[in-house]
Amino acid sequence: MRKNVQPDDGILVAQNITKQFGDRVVLDNISLAVEEGKTTVIIGPSGCGKTVFMKHLIVLERPSKGQVFFKNDRIDEKSEADLAKIRTKYGFCFQMGALFDSLTVYQNVIFPIEQHFKVTDYKALADLVKQKLAMVGMDGFQNHYPASLSGGQKKRVSLARAIALNPEIILYDEPTTGLDPITSDVINELVLKLKNELAVTSVVVTHDMKSAYKIADRIVMFHQGKIIADGDADHIRNHPHDVVQQFIHGKVGEAELAALRLGGTKFETQFLPEDFL
Ligand SMILES: Nc1ncnc2c1ncn2[C@@H]1O[C@H](COP(=O)(O)OP(=O)(O)O)[C@@H](O)[C@H]1O
Ligand SMILES: [Mg+2]
Repeated sequence: MRKNVQPDDGILVAQNITKQFGDRVVLDNISLAVEEGKTTVIIGPSGCGKTVFMKHLIVLERPSKGQVFFKNDRIDEKSEADLAKIRTKYGFCFQMGALFDSLTVYQNVIFPIEQHFKVTDYKALADLVKQKLAMVGMDGFQNHYPASLSGGQKKRVSLARAIALNPEIILYDEPTTGLDPITSDVINELVLKLKNELAVTSVVVTHDMKSAYKIADRIVMFHQGKIIADGDADHIRNHPHDVVQQFIHGKVGEAELAALRLGGTKFETQFLPEDFL
């Protein structure tokens, strides 16, 4: 048995988190201490609870059981007003947190700043935006609208927005999903750069193993609500558990194959031609 994590084992600590929606247990007694200044990557099949777990780290979801600590301070029971202050220490790049289409790049980047602070010095603000956009290679795009940007450029702007308040922690949910391999690698490089230049702590949810191997100091795999593997890239590559090997090599597991066989080999027609009219 491994020793359970303690509130001061990391900058961000989830202790015995269970999360149920109705009777469905999505997270089953998960403990994880996120080490300061490191990049922790969470992998696992679709629907295994990665996003739900990530939301607990910033208390966008509250646990059914268990506790969450930020810098040894329990945060899962705090009020929304107290959480708003704590969240200024976080940057997040979530799938749902896409850019606001009706705002320019500039307005998108200053959004979290204006939400939390009363801005009086607009020259300093413009300099700050310039610096943040330069960091992600997007200076000069201040007056563009998201619709005129590529997928990779949008992700970069959302990263600039995530670092607008000089966060101590950045949470990324599937930052490379939907991007081509080269654009994905630009995002990987940015995650590494932000870690190296800002000494930021990162937690990244991904199912992109290439990205995981490149950016992770530590990889944690979720499966059926539990952590089934935890270690550096080599530990994960050489992990003896079948489920881990199947996942990292993108293979279908025995259980899924059996379910397919049970369903027969003849696939039901899912769409009728008129669906496309
Ligand atoms: N607010 C919610 N209410 C009910 N079920 C939810 C809610 N949020 C997530 N779930 C369920 O929890 C499971 C894990 O979801 P999620 O964390 O989004 O998976 P993923 O690992 O793909 O990010 C899914 O089955 C999802 O349907
Ligand atoms: Mg998800």
